[in-house]
Amino acid sequence: MNTNGTEKTIVKLHVNGDSKDVMVRSADTLLETLREELGLTGAKRACQNGDCGACTVLINGEPQHACLSLTVETVNQPVTTIEALMNSPIQKIFVEKWAIQCGFCTPGFILNCHALSAKHPDADDTTIEEWMQSNLCRCTGYQEIRDAVKTVLQNNKNDFAS
Ligand code: FES
Ligand code: FES
Repeated sequence: MNTNGTEKTIVKLHVNGDSKDVMVRSADTLLETLREELGLTGAKRACQNGDCGACTVLINGEPQHACLSLTVETVNQPVTTIEALMNSPIQKIFVEKWAIQCGFCTPGFILNCHALSAKHPDADDTTIEEWMQSNLCRCTGYQEIRDAVKTVLQNNKNDFAS
């Protein structure tokens, strides 16, 4: 791959369980590639500065800002986008708890919640608060989002116990 970032090269990405060959420049962000090359528009383009979390995806199960991740750095790493969680229990809980308003931030919150429930199934209020700080909701419906996250964690515990 050339170093001035203009020439396109084919790389293989692993997104939502599928392998995809995509043409990328070395300077392309994962957010650009997901949205413009793969048509996965669930990750939102907002601040593009790492401040809001609207572009959150999971890379190797870790929440990351796709606007700050270079596509070429994700080769051979599993990437999960919100499209993989369509009609999932987490999505349904966010809807039932009214944890969406305009919905723009929602994909990022749901993916972050998904990763939290996998990594910290017993998260207390402080951990939940810290974990979710990387995502902003401009509609400021944070109480509903907190309730949804707690319900997801509780439901997972109940499923595990049953
Ligand atoms: S668009 Fe990536 S953090 Fe805001
Ligand atoms: S629901 Fe609108 S920004 Fe969060």
